[in-house]
Amino acid sequence: MSNKMWGGRFSERPDEIMEEINVSIDVDRHLFAQDIAASKAHAAMLASQGIITASDAKNIGKGLDTILSEIGKGDFTFKRALEDIHMNVESRLSELIGPAAGRLHTARSRNDQVATDFRLYVRDVLDETDAALATFQAALVNRALEHAATVMPGFTHLQTAQPVTFGHHLLAYVEMAARDRGRFQDARKRLNESPLGAAALAGTSFPIDRHATAKALGFDRPMANSLDAVSDRDFVLETLSAASICAVHMSRFAEEIVIWTSPLVGLIRLSDKFTTGSSIMPQKRNPDAAELVRAKTGRVIGALNGLLIVMKGLPLAYQKDMQEDKQGAMEGFAALSLAIRAMTGMVRDLVPDEAKMKAAAGEGYATATDLADWLVRTLKMPFREAHHVTGRIVAKAAEGGVALHELPLEDMQAVEPKITKDVLGVLSVESSVKSRTSFGGTAPKNVAAQAKAWAKRLEKERKSG
Ligand code: ARG
Repeated sequence: MSNKMWGGRFSERPDEIMEEINVSIDVDRHLFAQDIAASKAHAAMLASQGIITASDAKNIGKGLDTILSEIGKGDFTFKRALEDIHMNVESRLSELIGPAAGRLHTARSRNDQVATDFRLYVRDVLDETDAALATFQAALVNRALEHAATVMPGFTHLQTAQPVTFGHHLLAYVEMAARDRGRFQDARKRLNESPLGAAALAGTSFPIDRHATAKALGFDRPMANSLDAVSDRDFVLETLSAASICAVHMSRFAEEIVIWTSPLVGLIRLSDKFTTGSSIMPQKRNPDAAELVRAKTGRVIGALNGLLIVMKGLPLAYQKDMQEDKQGAMEGFAALSLAIRAMTGMVRDLVPDEAKMKAAAGEGYATATDLADWLVRTLKMPFREAHHVTGRIVAKAAEGGVALHELPLEDMQAVEPKITKDVLGVLSVESSVKSRTSFGGTAPKNVAAQAKAWAKRLEKERKSG
């Protein structure tokens, strides 16, 4: 028998391989809730426009509700022979309510159906990702408040550069997450238009009301061009782009956790909850969660690349290639969601070794810039010259194997006679961070104020959310 949904002009069954390559139910079954919501909106609109009867619409609506609960309960048999979620739902509907089910597909096509379903799905992903990032930010802000004055080494080139505070470091990720959320929110605005009613590609001769279905599904408006409506997947690409950038942020943070927990570095410790052991080396505590967050980035970027390549040569309008838009995207979104939740867990879990952080912050002459700044401020030296003088003093300290604040004043004066004992006040790591009061700087006072402002902002958002 040929396919009962489209087999009118076919007399032979499809080849097994044809079925195998054509079927998408294993992936698009995840769109069942969106598919049913869109069908309910469509049926109600068809009735209020007088295209189908009110009683047919009522039966269709009831039947769809039954299917929704069947799928929810796991009582639904998805059939591969029915290809995709749209035909599985419609076929079950006709079992439940008879021929009226066949009226549901009036004035629509699977092309606008799938575009609508996937937009609704991605919109949910965007909302869930935004909420997960808000939770991640709140966790960071809490730890930043706690560690506003905890001194740690700041790095450039992964070399000790200048002392910073741990709270400041954590707040950097709060800012990144805020921009990520902004990108997701932007994507949502552009995504939120309804393709439903574009039909196969050209629109329809039935007097449908696309504004009504758009409104019923929470879209801002119907998409203005039917060809565009069924054939673009830029809303997925844009979401995956934002997701890729976000995943890269998660990955950089994860990499820092891997570095910080290495016994060679030892700046933080993760509890047993976020570490694993080795099956052969009993002493090991591996930061597997952080490593996997780092690796999940590949799935997200891979999904973006994959879909860009699927789309790049497609003429208008719908092409079957586009059926390949969902699997990678869904996997990518799931990977990002897990990465964000794992990072949130590690942020809550991690314990900095404050003594080690402080000692490491002073290593490698990290307060050399403070000495140069002192020369500029107190002796009115041009910065370039101060840089040079400081370099010579650092060389002397290195020769003697001592830290800057341990170098005898006479040794500094041998390089620059105008240096006084006041200089000793700027050479400790605490005074260094305390002095960084410029806007956005690492001073504990700044960090505490920023963390408090963020806590307030997130709390307000949560209440209004
Ligand atoms: N399963 C298809 C997809 O995901 C639905 C649209 C199919 N449309 C068609 N005319 N064959 O893209």
